[in-house]
Amino acid sequence: MIAATPPMGWNSWNTFGPNIDEGLILETADAMVASGLRDAGYKYLVIDDAWMAPERVGGRLMPDPDRFAMGIAALAAEVHDLGLLFGIYSCAGTHTCEGFPASYGYEDVDARTFAEWGVDFLKYDYCYAIAGADPVQLYRRMGQALRQTDREILYSVCEWGAHKPWEWAASVGAHMWRTTEDILDTWESVSRIGFDLQADLHPYAGPGHWNDPDMLVVGMGGEGHVGRGGMTDAEYRSHFSQWCLLASPLMIGCDVRSMSDSTKNLLLDPGLIAINQDPLGRQAYRVGVAKDHGPAETWARPLADGAWAVGLFNMGDEDGRLMSVGWEDLGLRLDQPAGVENITTGEAAESLVGSYATNVDSHDVNVLRVTPEL
Ligand code: GLA
Repeated sequence: MIAATPPMGWNSWNTFGPNIDEGLILETADAMVASGLRDAGYKYLVIDDAWMAPERVGGRLMPDPDRFAMGIAALAAEVHDLGLLFGIYSCAGTHTCEGFPASYGYEDVDARTFAEWGVDFLKYDYCYAIAGADPVQLYRRMGQALRQTDREILYSVCEWGAHKPWEWAASVGAHMWRTTEDILDTWESVSRIGFDLQADLHPYAGPGHWNDPDMLVVGMGGEGHVGRGGMTDAEYRSHFSQWCLLASPLMIGCDVRSMSDSTKNLLLDPGLIAINQDPLGRQAYRVGVAKDHGPAETWARPLADGAWAVGLFNMGDEDGRLMSVGWEDLGLRLDQPAGVENITTGEAAESLVGSYATNVDSHDVNVLRVTPEL
C-alpha cells in the first residue's frame, strides 16, 4: 500500500522557493543519506514549483534546460540509486503558482511523462484553476491519470484546505491533502496550522490517506536562514512533536546540507518518529478538561500496541507550567497501572496510577508514551 504510514521526505519549497537546480537536488540527496535521514525513514525527495521550462515542448512538460540539463529521468535515476524516492510538482490549473505551464487539460500526458521519468510522488497544487471549475473534478482527473500509469505514484493534493479536501480527496485517489494555507517559520503560524486548524480532522486520517498541515519548518531559523522569522528550539520541538502526534506527513523544509546538531537530533528522534509511523495510523486529538485552544493543551492518540502517545503543550508565555494527563482522558480506569516514558526528557518508564504531571516551559512540550500494564 502506498503511504501505509505518513510519508516522510524533503521538499525544496520552504527554503529555496523557485531557486532550484539539479546540483542542489543531488547535494540534498547525498546529505539525506550522509545525515541518516534516509535510514530514519525520510525517503521522498520532492522538487516543488519552478522546475519546468517556460513552455511545453511537443505538448509535454520539459525541465528548464539550464537548471536541469541532465533531464528529470536521469536525475530521478541518480536519486533512486541512493535508495531514495523521487517527487515532482504540478498544478491543477493552467499555470503553477510561479507561472510555469501546469497540467489542466494535460492530465493524461503529464501523468504518463512523470511515470516514464520514474517519478514516485506528485504534489498537485491549485493556482490558476479555471473559473467555475469543480476542484473535486480537477483532482479526480489527475488521480485517474496517475492510476492509469504502470507506476505507483503517491498523490499529494494541495488546494490549501479551501474545499474541505479531507471529505473527498481520498476518494479521488489522494494519499495526503493539505489542510491549510502555507506554513511560515513562526510560532503564530505553527500554533494556528498545527493546533487550532487540526482539532476536528482526526477522523479523516488513516493508513493510505493523511491530513497534511504542510511541510516542516524545523531548522529554517538557523544560520543562513533568509528572513521568514524563525523559532526557538522549544518551538521547533513543539512543532515537530505535534506533526508526529498528528500522523502528519513529515516533509523536511530546511537545508539538510547544513543542519545544526539540534535540528538533526530533533528530525531523527526515534521515539517521535515511531509515534508518527505507528501502524494504527490514528491522528491525535485534544483531550482533557479544556478540549479547546488554551495555554495548556493536551493531545493524545492510541497506538497499535495498546499504548497512548500524549503531548503536553504549554502554548502560553509562562515557564514551568504544571501540566498533567489523567487516565480518564485516555479511557483507562483510574486504578490501572501504566508505565510512563517521557520521550522529550528521556526519563525512563515509571509505573503510575491515575495521572502523570510535569512542568513544561513556555511554547515547549513533553511527549509521553503511556503503556497500560497487563
Ligand atoms: C503553493 C503551495 C506551496 C508551494 C507553492 C509553490 O503556495 O501551497 O506549498 O508549492 O505554491 O509555488
